Amino acid sequence: MSKPPVSKNESTKKIQAIRGMNDLLPDQSARWQYFEGIVQSLMRRYGYAEIRTPIVEQTALFARSIGEVTDIVEKEMYTFEDRNGDSLTLRPEGTASCVRAAMEHGLLHNQTQRLWYQGPMFRHERPQKGRYRQFHQVGVEAFGLDGPDIDAEVILLSARLWQELGLTDHVTLELNSLGSNEARAAYRDTLVAYFEAHHEALDEDSRRRLHSNPLRILDSKNPEMAPLLADAPRLMDHLDDESRVHFEALTARLEAAGIDYVINPRLVRGLDYYCRTVFEWTTTALGSQGTVCAGGRYDGLVEQLGGKPTPAVGFAMGIERLILLLETLELFPAATGEALDAYLVPLDEGAEAPAMLLAERLRGASPALRLQLHCGGGGFKSRLKKADRSGARLALLLGEDELAQGVVTVKFLREARDQQRLPQDALAEALPALLTGEPT
Ligand code: HAM
Repeated sequence: MSKPPVSKNESTKKIQAIRGMNDLLPDQSARWQYFEGIVQSLMRRYGYAEIRTPIVEQTALFARSIGEVTDIVEKEMYTFEDRNGDSLTLRPEGTASCVRAAMEHGLLHNQTQRLWYQGPMFRHERPQKGRYRQFHQVGVEAFGLDGPDIDAEVILLSARLWQELGLTDHVTLELNSLGSNEARAAYRDTLVAYFEAHHEALDEDSRRRLHSNPLRILDSKNPEMAPLLADAPRLMDHLDDESRVHFEALTARLEAAGIDYVINPRLVRGLDYYCRTVFEWTTTALGSQGTVCAGGRYDGLVEQLGGKPTPAVGFAMGIERLILLLETLELFPAATGEALDAYLVPLDEGAEAPAMLLAERLRGASPALRLQLHCGGGGFKSRLKKADRSGARLALLLGEDELAQGVVTVKFLREARDQQRLPQDALAEALPALLTGEPT
């Protein structure tokens, strides 16, 4: 097959990142690492184990779990045919992959699992602040437990994360119960009858959803629909007894743990696999993309994908939104950057090889030391200028003189202090004191 012709103009045009997909530059990545460090430690403390799954799956996995008539599956998936003609999709979320992997590897046979994951997800949505086409989630999924205790646990885990990030006063927990699948089916009929009786008041989107996914009409943000929705029959009033008891036990546990919540009877979620408990943590500080974490129970999904009936509950949070929120509220600790401790400068070409060996010796002896070795040659002045620009606290200078005497010259770049010469062998031991400014 011949290659498609490329015009000269085309071939020299700058290639840019795909709209809605972001680069994470070094000054940002320190903030992500701060967030990820807190998350990892939290998961370990609650006994959740990490699972990593591929970012591409068979398209049918998402269509069958998230639901054919959802925004995600209808409009937002990155679906393509691979070279074998198989239909593949970049994962739009993590729950379906997690269930697939747990089933495939026998993790759900007569055992419970508490899993967590983190990684990029892909949805072809209209990009705006807090909404991207490649975004990142941290998610938690607990399998094999059907009581309200585990619902409470995953919510408490998220609440502790807010506490550790300083966000507790800036997020609100919204809760609802969707009831059992049977109760929801009965409620659905009641709801359709109500909307049909008020057909003229429905907007176009809602008319389209009336028979395919009527519960999603409750989610409408159209202000003209607000009075109609306010009077709509409430799911809460149509719960089956078991779901009601489950929900009351959950709210009692949250109250006992001092977690505030509001019941939002219109919270239905945009994915079809949920039943009973659903929840969202929202903030008013981010504009329209204010949901930072969302989840719920999905007791039917494992069976729906061909496994044995297995209760499950989980959530996912949007990392970009949480980073934005921490930035907006100025909640990042000041020292999330990774400044260098020392910059080692061979003062001429002859000192370059010995400087490399000295750098390796220092790194071996002081694992916490952040040391950069000057590379790329240059004149004496430019080498020193680079040392200064590196942001390091100390410059370690190694020239002909130093080599002859087995010493290193230590120059203090950020404080007015006389430079010193120290034996190379004593340097590793002296560095902690030199870096904290103590006299040596
Ligand atoms: P979701 O509500 O679709 O649920 O997404 C969870 C969170 O991911 C959202 O609350 C938001 O913070 C973030 N998010 C979603 N879409 C975007 C986007 N385009 N840009 C930036 N952030 C976004 C799920 O994905 C379920 N799998 C959650 C779950 C896990 N339920 C049970 N287990």
